[in-house]
Amino acid sequence: MFERLQQKWKVSGWRLLLILVTFALGGSLCGYLGRQLLGLLQIDSAVIRIPLYILLVTILWPFCVLLISLFTGQFKFFRTYLKKMGARMAGKKRADHLVPQAPPTNVNNDTLIQPATQPVNQSGAQGSVTRIAVFASGAGSNAQKIIDYFRNSTTIQIALIVCNKPGAGVLGIAEREHIPTLLIEKEAFFRGNGYVDELKAAHIDFVVLAGFLWKIPATLTAAYPNKMVNIHPALLPRYGGKGMYGMHVHEAIIAAGEPESGITIHFVDNVYDNGAIIFQATCAIAPGDTPADLAQKVHQLEHAHYPRIIEQVIEQLQNQR
Ligand code: GRF
Repeated sequence: MFERLQQKWKVSGWRLLLILVTFALGGSLCGYLGRQLLGLLQIDSAVIRIPLYILLVTILWPFCVLLISLFTGQFKFFRTYLKKMGARMAGKKRADHLVPQAPPTNVNNDTLIQPATQPVNQSGAQGSVTRIAVFASGAGSNAQKIIDYFRNSTTIQIALIVCNKPGAGVLGIAEREHIPTLLIEKEAFFRGNGYVDELKAAHIDFVVLAGFLWKIPATLTAAYPNKMVNIHPALLPRYGGKGMYGMHVHEAIIAAGEPESGITIHFVDNVYDNGAIIFQATCAIAPGDTPADLAQKVHQLEHAHYPRIIEQVIEQLQNQR
């Protein structure tokens, strides 16, 4: 049970202990305060006392755990935890009272937003939910990992797959996962508005590039400042820039006899592979490794880290709201 909690909350054993202690002390404090307040009110009837006590405890509990968390050093965890709880409750309420939100509709006749055939995930709500557009033009293995990671998230939703290649593997993934797709064209992307209007119309809050090869136009980076990330299959600033994509990167690294390579996750600005670096992870290159071997090692790193880092960046943005 403890291991499952550790995995769910992504915390070490010690942190889990501190979190559980916070829950216990927060709960006791809240019960104590609830009883004291009831005493002050001097209500004798049990019919009123019990529901009133439950109401008081429900209201006091978040404040009590937050207070205790200041002393156990777990304030950040509980702030996020309570926000998520609030979002989940608000989401449930919406689901109870509202008809499900319609998927994004076509913005104009040239824009090929294909609506999903079924809801994308259980949340389906806007507001407290950050809606991601994944830009990908290849097989989409990273896109798949990201979709899997956020499948049951109540605060982050993969709302749109944007692709510039008809027939790309990622489109098949989008179809299977019932995620709407936007097929974009070069002319409109570079000379038009960079599809900003379409993304805004689809309520996209955050953009993830996962194997998207076109340079992102300034209109688009300006619309998503610090809200657009990319993954590069090497350790930037080396082996980046124009022409450094896919197997070209791995071939160059092997040809140079590098002892290691890795991945870089970074914010996107107007220069290829240039934005601020968020995260890097490395892998060793063994003598005799081919570019294909290296590509496989790098893919493993990407799949292991990209979804988690996206989550961290978005959680920081959500906490700033
Ligand atoms: C990844 O290696 C990523 O680093 C690069 O494009 C590749 C996409 O692979 N930007 P996939 O389509 O996600 O399998």
